[in-house]
Amino acid sequence: MKRYSLIQLPEVEDFTQKEIVSMYSKYVNSGIATFLKILGFDKYKIVKAEGMYLYTECGKKILDFSGGMSVLNHGHNHPRIMEARKRFNDHKRLEICKAFIPQYQSVLANNLAEIFPGDLQYSFFCNSGAEANEGALKIALLFHRPKRDKIVYTDLGYHGKTFATMSVSGMVSRPYKELFKSLDGCLEVPYGNIGVLKELIRKRKESGRLDIACMILEPIKADLVLMPPHGYLRELEALCNEQDIILIADEIFTGFGRTGKMFGFEHEGIVPDIVTFSKSLGGGKASIAGYIVKSHIFKKTYGSLKGCTVHTTTFGGLGEECATAIEALNVINDEDLIGNARAQGEYLLARMKELKSKYPRFIKDVRGIGLLCIFELRSTSEVFGERLLKNIPHFNDLLLGLIPAAIVSELFKRHNILIYTGGREDNLFINPSLIITKEEIDMFIDSLDNVFGSNLLRLIMELGGNLIF
Ligand SMILES: Cc1ncc(COP(=O)(O)O)c(C=O)c1O
Repeated sequence: MKRYSLIQLPEVEDFTQKEIVSMYSKYVNSGIATFLKILGFDKYKIVKAEGMYLYTECGKKILDFSGGMSVLNHGHNHPRIMEARKRFNDHKRLEICKAFIPQYQSVLANNLAEIFPGDLQYSFFCNSGAEANEGALKIALLFHRPKRDKIVYTDLGYHGKTFATMSVSGMVSRPYKELFKSLDGCLEVPYGNIGVLKELIRKRKESGRLDIACMILEPIKADLVLMPPHGYLRELEALCNEQDIILIADEIFTGFGRTGKMFGFEHEGIVPDIVTFSKSLGGGKASIAGYIVKSHIFKKTYGSLKGCTVHTTTFGGLGEECATAIEALNVINDEDLIGNARAQGEYLLARMKELKSKYPRFIKDVRGIGLLCIFELRSTSEVFGERLLKNIPHFNDLLLGLIPAAIVSELFKRHNILIYTGGREDNLFINPSLIITKEEIDMFIDSLDNVFGSNLLRLIMELGGNLIF
């Protein structure tokens, strides 16, 4: 028998950070390793994560203001979610349930139907946001098959990196979208513009028949923190109802309290036909995603014996993931995380506006809804002039994002605060967990004030130095 030379699980913790970086660069992704090196993140080994904080091996306590890209609405390792998983495992619950009706999945779907408005009733579970959107597009196309086969999407939307979701993602994902052939039949319209959509529908009707099956959009454009014009979502809902176009709302980023309501579309009180969800449903511990669909759509497509296995996935809705999600929803409910997102979000935005008035040279705009917030910065060349920086090795590819990169790096190194950049390279994306306190917001804003007030050009130059070990 061949015996492989495998590293044992307990040994993982004993590797030095340098050894881990080297393994990651060699076996996972060398480009990402270089990027993290530039920011100065590669030097730290995180040994613990709890609530709003990360702890490094060398004793640093880092305030995590990134919110794990909306995965961490509950903070890190929330005690109730840890306990739910422990309970599931202590009782040796059934995980893989293809022959029996899964109890945790059934109860999770029941709770989701309670949370979602209107006739949104049937849930499908999978493991990633892109898969959830793929599933939503498939059920919508099947509903209208064979009469309609077109999908409308918006120029700003981001829906994932699989073939179908890439095809219906807009400008934000263009750089890599252009490397692959898109699916046929995907029609782009500008985000927030009802007139162009109406015109598209009119033209398609004029040239024969209406062939649009569905429209997919982010009700609030998450990684740019853009709200559509007031009334747009309501007009869109009415138009889709009138034309029998299935409206798919992607709430993968904005769902479960992030914007100060349970879902982004609730800010305009609409009821989409399908809603996709992921991220914080897993309470920061489980990879669970899915969609919920109105009952008449489900019944016509997958509701029969013949149709019930048309769309399935091996790891969808496993017991431990669903048990975690049940607890995650209950924590949001019991701890009023949504109320905190609203209250702290208002305070955070007010303090962000103070920084905008103080540093107009760097900050072009600030926007926020709940705890989904962004600083839109002026470009590096607008602030410093392109000539100064473009000959620095490694910087050409990053030119647009140098100011945000310098700020992210400095906040981390000298102020022990972690944030990410956003959907565009000239943004700072601010999405802390929904358990954040006013004191932590003050700590963040005061530190950022200090960074904006320091010599940013020197900080940019320092980024280059990070590449030398
Ligand atoms: C709005 C939105 N849709 C879809 C996705 C894709 O999710 P995943 O990365 O889990 O495939 C994301 C990921 O960030 C997202 O923000």
